[in-house]
Amino acid sequence: MDLRFQQAPAAEWQANTVLLFNFKDEAVTESIPNLSETIPWITITPAIQDAKGEKNQVTVAYGHPSIPLPRAIIVGLGERKSFTLKVLRDAVKTAALKCRELKVDTCAIPVETIDTIDEENAVLIEEAVASALIALHTYDALKTTQKEPAHTPRWMGLLSSEENFPDELHAAARRGEAAAAGVNYTRDLVNAPANVITPAVLAEKAEELGKKYNFKRTILGRKEIEKAGMGAFMSVAAGSDAEPKFIVLEHAPKGTETDDPIVFVGKGVTFDTGGISLKPSLGMHEMKCDMGGAGAVFGLFEALGNSDIERRVIGITPCTDNMPSSTATHPGDVVTSLNGKTIEVINTDAEGRLILVDALTYAQNEFKPAALINLATLTGACVVALGAHAAAVFSTDDELSKTITDTGELVGDRYWPMPLWDSYFETLKSDVADMKNVGSREGGAIHAALFLKQFVEKDVRWAHLDIAGPAYNTKGGATGFGVRTLLEIVRKGV
Ligand code: BES
Ligand code: ZN
Ligand code: ZN
Repeated sequence: MDLRFQQAPAAEWQANTVLLFNFKDEAVTESIPNLSETIPWITITPAIQDAKGEKNQVTVAYGHPSIPLPRAIIVGLGERKSFTLKVLRDAVKTAALKCRELKVDTCAIPVETIDTIDEENAVLIEEAVASALIALHTYDALKTTQKEPAHTPRWMGLLSSEENFPDELHAAARRGEAAAAGVNYTRDLVNAPANVITPAVLAEKAEELGKKYNFKRTILGRKEIEKAGMGAFMSVAAGSDAEPKFIVLEHAPKGTETDDPIVFVGKGVTFDTGGISLKPSLGMHEMKCDMGGAGAVFGLFEALGNSDIERRVIGITPCTDNMPSSTATHPGDVVTSLNGKTIEVINTDAEGRLILVDALTYAQNEFKPAALINLATLTGACVVALGAHAAAVFSTDDELSKTITDTGELVGDRYWPMPLWDSYFETLKSDVADMKNVGSREGGAIHAALFLKQFVEKDVRWAHLDIAGPAYNTKGGATGFGVRTLLEIVRKGV
């Protein structure tokens, strides 16, 4: 769906359907200023009585078909005093899906109608645009018998009666569009099954992104990964014939090439069977989502390519599947990681941490990160702790942790802080190596985080985001969780 900007006196606005939002216990005419000038018919249509403003209540009202804005979809925002950006995102999603259901050809939001909402108009526009585009995106690349693809309006217009369409709102809408492009890119990667998205295909995608947006890329294959000394990463790839790929993307606009970069590392397990420590078959198909961290890093780069952000950013994604076979790592094997530490692989299903530690070491060897942030669908224990509503954030840097949590809240990615106390290391101690790859079951998400911490230098600002819960829903599939947080962190700097 394209975006259009219409700047004209209200009487000349054109769209098939206008989207309006109103608060509870306020007359629509009160919630939406200048309604009598913009859409005069709506002030007298009886249907408006039904729009009570209850959260996500939808009312459709019709004017005469010959009128330039002949139909309105009004969505409730609930009580004015409890308004949040999430309320707006949900309401816009509801409106967008109603447009789909009614097969609306073109829709529009008069920007003046948000004037009474107590939040910057630019923020509201950015969120509204992002939410509509995310809501309408579907993954149907593999459906061949579907009669017609899910309907999407041709364009969404933003209408303004000001003399010039306000620059800051135009820029805000484009920011929302770039963010949605990133989120939807990630969703497509994560929704795609493991026979479609292999490590080699991810490497091709990185090439494509690099060529399109001028990102530097470094891609290591099996031989190079082995030669580099990434024994922990290799131990996961050992069971698979599919070639692992260690992918590095770099966004360094002119003048930023020598800056300390923000480095993101994403777990890219394209399928997690558990390896020799095989997972039960029920629900195993969902483990195609185990590259959700890498997917978010790729989505960030898609968003960066559509933005104008002058900051150096590195994205590192170790990609492999985790398979059982005669060449697979046995439980009990000891492997040597890139930084020389030895790991006793007690459970081959705790593979994410093995590939991540070599990527974290690489990040610190090759760059001087201003911040080092990794994302991973790392533990089932985290899903038990927080469910699907939030990711856990683990960090030794309270400021970084707060930046991530606050930024996430703003854009709709929720994070909750979890501890990294060294006392949890007790059960990670090994009799034969420097550490085991799993600790006791209780506190499993913390053990995984503490394992990663062993590979991060003390002076590095590091955070680990366990996104196993919110990255993928059994109903609804991939969410693109994390992309918007990363994008905003890059925009603001850390
Ligand atoms: N990929 C899984 C974690 C996961 C679980 C992601 C649910 C998304 C949804 C991870 O590699 C894993 O298998 N972790 C094990 C660790 C255990 C063996 C210590 C787990 O959580 O059970
Ligand atoms: Zn696993
Ligand atoms: Zn995994």
